[in-house]
Amino acid sequence: MKFFVDTAEIKDIRELQETGLLDGVTTNPSLIAKSGRDFKEVIKEICGIVPGPVSAEVASLEYEGMVAEGEHLAKIADNVVIKLPLTLNGLKATKYFHDKGIKTNVTLCFSANQALLAAKVGATYISPFLGRLDDINLDGVELIENIRVIYDNYAFDTQILAASIRSANHVTQVALAGADVATIPPAVIRKLADHPLTNAGIEGFLKDWKATGQSIL
Ligand code: E4P
Repeated sequence: MKFFVDTAEIKDIRELQETGLLDGVTTNPSLIAKSGRDFKEVIKEICGIVPGPVSAEVASLEYEGMVAEGEHLAKIADNVVIKLPLTLNGLKATKYFHDKGIKTNVTLCFSANQALLAAKVGATYISPFLGRLDDINLDGVELIENIRVIYDNYAFDTQILAASIRSANHVTQVALAGADVATIPPAVIRKLADHPLTNAGIEGFLKDWKATGQSIL
């Protein structure tokens, strides 16, 4: 499973890129607003740090506006992926970009039927938002499992990008469900490496090693 980081914070992106764990980045208008920076400038900077796909979301709701904005964003860097909402206009624009060979991420997916439509118009990625479904007492992981079955039934090559991930447990669940990618907040990525038994083990080994009085170098 590929790991994207879900943020527009340069410090986090740089730090995680250096770990070798990062395959791409997703942003959304809320994350851009939180960064307090100019949208196009921040996307350009991210694309210079991470060579993998970087999702940049259109703001227009009209087809013509989505196409104009998406074309503009695609010129920022070769690794920009145009993020479009799952509406009929968004799907029409997805088909437009697919035909032009520009990668797309269809976002705000909350049902298997929506994911089926996105695959039919050639979306590169579909983003089911599992955390927001869990928030209203629905099953986000089940949605990803269902999309996996549908995409495999028809050999669609749209990649399932599990989004709105809130916990380390979500990461395990979407990996088991067969998501191609998980986009994860920086704090959750850092938590994945954490285990109290690892920490206790290191402490014990270090204590015993010091008692030997040896050094490796
Ligand atoms: C995905 O591309 C979105 O940016 C993101 O995962 C939304 O997550 P949230 O529901 O925590 O805002």
